[in-house]
Formats: sequence, C-alpha cells, structure tokens
Amino acid sequence: GPAFETPGAEGGRLPDVKEEAESCTRCGLYRQATHLVFGEGPAKARILFVGEQPGDREDLAGRPFVGPAGRLLDRCLDEAGVDRDLCYVTNAVKHFKFTPRGKRRIHSRPGAGEVQACAWWLAAELRLVRPALVVALGATALYSLMGRQAKVTRDRGRLLSLPHGMPVLVTIHPSALLRSRDQADAALDRARFVEDLEKIGDFLE
Ligand code: URA
Repeated sequence: GPAFETPGAEGGRLPDVKEEAESCTRCGLYRQATHLVFGEGPAKARILFVGEQPGDREDLAGRPFVGPAGRLLDRCLDEAGVDRDLCYVTNAVKHFKFTPRGKRRIHSRPGAGEVQACAWWLAAELRLVRPALVVALGATALYSLMGRQAKVTRDRGRLLSLPHGMPVLVTIHPSALLRSRDQADAALDRARFVEDLEKIGDFLE
C-alpha cells in the first residue's frame, strides 16, 4: 500500500537502511538499473522532498536529483528562498526504469506495483527523518504517499496530511517544466512552481 500504510524497514539509522535497500529485490527494477538511488540529505531535515524515480544521470551517479530536473529544482528552490542543503531529497521509486533505444535509455513511468513495493523504503525514510513537511513532486510521489485520494491537478499548492498528521505539500514535478510548450507558458508554469515552493518557508523553523 501507500507509504503511510507500510511499517517500513526495521533498521534504526538511515545509513543502515540505505545499505539494506541496496540489495532490494522487492520488484524487478533492480535487474536493469546501475545503482539503487537512496535519499540524501541531513538525517534531521525539516523538509523532505519526494520525486518519482531516478533518471539516467541519477542512476549512473547513484544520487538523487543530480541531472537536469535536479538542477532546475535547485534554481527554483533558490528563487523560493529554500536552501536545498537543509532538505532531504528522495524518490517514490529508487531504481531507474527505462526502455533502451539505441545507445539511449528512455525514462519509463513506474507502475503502481513498483511504487507500492518501494513505498517500504519511503516509509522508513519518513519514519527516521520525521520532517516537519513532506513535498510531493508530481503524481507518482503523491500516489505513493496518499494513494488515489489525492490528485496533483486538483490539490496542487495545497497542504494535505498523512494519517499520522504529517503535512504534505502538493506540487508538480520539475521535469514537467522541462517539457513546457511555448515560452510564455513555460515562464508561467515555472513562476507557479516557485510560488508553491515558497510555502515551504513556514516549515523551516
Ligand atoms: N526525477 C526524479 O523524480 N528524481 C530524480 O532523482 C531525478 C529526476
């Protein structure tokens, strides 16, 4: 089930849970990926970001949000006055899912079964970091956290809450901005994303 329903891994420290996750076979994605990409950031971060899954660059580096979407997230956080170094950043799914096309690896969306299998690790991260605020970046993150009851299109910019009361800020995934149609739309979409991120300020202290 969604992250809030799973007990999470038993380990008591993030580095131990990460090490345990590195040999995860809870779904089949480990077969194709280079690295398991676990979350990263201060163990007591007040803000925890959840993305979808590592991309090509993250899979090779073994670190979350280091590619184009990560750089865009960094710039938008900067504009919103949020220091990424104070945040814990992770993904709903921790292995890169892709379709080979020639020499390229094309991102492919994780399925509900993969999201549910991986929610085990996300639940452990939530339990150990205990952030003041979780930020769901896009539909996969939101589904992992809240199940089908929440929708990015309807709930974007709002604060929802997990059953144990932890607040969840809903917004889009930064990679959606990399696909914006024309320049005017792109600027508006980005400004709206930064506006969503500005709501994080209330939870920083
Ligand atoms: N997109 C994500 O959702 N996560 C990453 O780590 C990188 C890109």
